[in-house]
This record gives sequence, structure tokens and C-alpha cells, in this order.
Amino acid sequence: MTQSAKSEQRNQFHTVSLREILQAMPKVDLHRHLEGSLRLETLAEAAREHGVDLPSYDIEELRPLVQVVDGDPYDFHRFLEKFKLLRRFYSCREAVERVAYEAVTDAAEDNVQYLELRFSPASLAMTQDFSLDEVTDWVVQAVNRAQRDHNIAVGLIVSVMRDFGRAVAENVTEVAIAYRDRGVVGLDLAGDEVHYPGKPFADLFRRAKAAGLGITVHAGEAMGPERVYEAITVLEADRIGHGVRTIENSDVVQLVLRRGIALEVCPTSNLQTGVVRSLGTHPLRDLYRLGLRVTLNTDDPSVSNTTLTDEYVVAIQGIGLTMIELKNIIMNGVRAAFLPPREKARLEKRVAKALGLTTSARFRWRFWE
Ligand code: HPA
Ligand code: ZN
Repeated sequence: MTQSAKSEQRNQFHTVSLREILQAMPKVDLHRHLEGSLRLETLAEAAREHGVDLPSYDIEELRPLVQVVDGDPYDFHRFLEKFKLLRRFYSCREAVERVAYEAVTDAAEDNVQYLELRFSPASLAMTQDFSLDEVTDWVVQAVNRAQRDHNIAVGLIVSVMRDFGRAVAENVTEVAIAYRDRGVVGLDLAGDEVHYPGKPFADLFRRAKAAGLGITVHAGEAMGPERVYEAITVLEADRIGHGVRTIENSDVVQLVLRRGIALEVCPTSNLQTGVVRSLGTHPLRDLYRLGLRVTLNTDDPSVSNTTLTDEYVVAIQGIGLTMIELKNIIMNGVRAAFLPPREKARLEKRVAKALGLTTSARFRWRFWE
């Protein structure tokens, strides 16, 4: 065969890239903030439509204000700063509903089959003085519509912001509990971990747990393993948001292991908040190999300019996970979901089958529980 015939034959076959394989994989995201999922196009377009005051309505001019871009220092507080401008966007019911609907749509397009989407009712309500109930209602309705329109199941998590104070936290917790039968599956503690410990919120998280909500707490991200310890022992967390600094203390590693606590790891976010110096030194692989129940998630897709497919690519190419390890981690996500047992079993069966996993492998994970 001549050289040109050979290359012609080669060109007839499309080489499937790793990204395409990962894109097609069924995915589970347990840690994604609604406020960090706002499409830049929507921000510019809808802000103009609804008369929101922004420094610019040009996407490229807005980008560095709401997204981590090349040249930005990787710093936790700078990362959180990006949310301040985004809060101006929630000027009316339509804006809140649009963000919620599109966040679910984007996840479905990335082949996320089960999404736990967290939102801070206080952040959505504060600019226009909406009530926490009404913004929660708008999110619930838009998410339900998006679930029906796309092939995806969504559970909502309500975020209490550490830096908004006790009184707001109490009201937000009450709303979360009131919406337990209307799509809210968990309560989260988010915001500035450095200046605001979790302890003052302990009674609220215990109340939410007693009411049947799953508990997840951002900890061991900007602060060390002592905050993971606090989240588990004082706030009774079932899962830890990030928790990557657990690795720094073997007693805390043992505690997380013994209690079967899942870690919601978000590699790109961890890089951009300065929690890890590089992806190559991210502790995800070590945490996994120690037997901890790690999961892989996005955190804030639009702030970090990422998708869950991107995070899977990073896990394999940047962090060095194998494909089977990644598949196990996806199953960890299913097993750590705040879903009732029957629904979880159904999801587990469906995802394991789509990932081509055997019954014996499934049995091994059950055994772990
Ligand atoms: N940490 C704390 N709060 C947050 C984060 C985070 O990574 N993302 C959005 N809110
Ligand atoms: Zn987060």
C-alpha cells in the first residue's frame, strides 16, 4: 500500500480522544454551586434585559471580574471575591429561574446523570430583599422544570454562608428544613472558612440532621484538618466539601475512614484557591489509595471555567488516576448521594451498568459500606 493510501485509510477512522470517552461517561456531581454556575453569556444578556448595573456588558470585559483567568493569583479569598459581582445579577424572579434552569441544563449536556446543586438562598435574596422562601421556591420550580426537560435527576442542597452571621443562618436552616419534601436533600456550610469556624452553627446543623437532611460542610480547604475534625464531631457532617487537607493528619484520616465520610474533591477549584500548588501534587490519589471515599466534582463551573468532563480529564492526565480508579470514584459519588436507599440502589445499578462494571465489583463497594 502506498504512503498516501495508508494515510487515507487512517483518516477514515476517527480516533476517539480521552475527552470524548470521559464526556460520554455517566457522571455524578455532588458539589456544584448554583451561584458559580452562571453562564457568562447569560450574565451579560440577562443583566442588560433586567437593568442590572454591571461595570460592563461585554463578556470579555466581565470575564476577569467573575472568572479566574490567566495571571490571577491563586488565592482563596480572591476566589470568593468573584461571587460578589455575581450577586448583583439576581434582580428578579426570571433571572433566578434562568440561572437555575441553565445550571441543570449544562450539567445534563455534560452527561451528569445525578446532580446535587447547592445554592445560598441568602445570596440570591440579598440584592433585592427577596424573602428566602420566595427565592427557594423559584429555584425549586426551575430545577424541577429542567429535570423534566433533560435526562437528569437533581437534589438541592441549601448553603448556609459562614460570613452572613447567625441570624441569617437560622432562617436559612429553617427554609432548608421546610423544603425537605420539595427537593432539598441537604444542608451545607460554605463561605470564608478562615475567619468563621463552624462551631457557632452546630445546633443548626444538628437540627437539620434530625429533620432528615444530609449534612455537608466545606472544611479542610483553606484551613487544615482540625476543621475537618470539627465538621465531623461538632457539625455531624456526612460529607466534607473538599477536605483535601485531611491528608495532613493521620488521626483525622482514620476518623474519616472509620465513619465512611465522603470527600467532595474539586481539583481545579483547589488549584485556583491555592489549596494545592499544582495538579501534580494534588492529594486526590493518595486519599483514594488510603481507602477514603473520595468523589470528583466541579464546585463552580463558570468561575473556574470548567466542566465535570474537564475535571475527569484533570484527574487522569493531571493527577494520574487510572480509568478504573476514576470509575470507582464515580461510584463513590453515587453511594455518597443524599438519596433515599431505593433511589440510590436504582442509580447505582444504572451507572455501574453504563460504566461496564461487574456485579462482583459492585459487591465490593457494598462490602465497604
Ligand atoms: N469554598 C467556600 N465557599 C464557596 C466555595 C468554596 O470553594 N465555592 C463557592 N462558595
Ligand atoms: Zn464549594
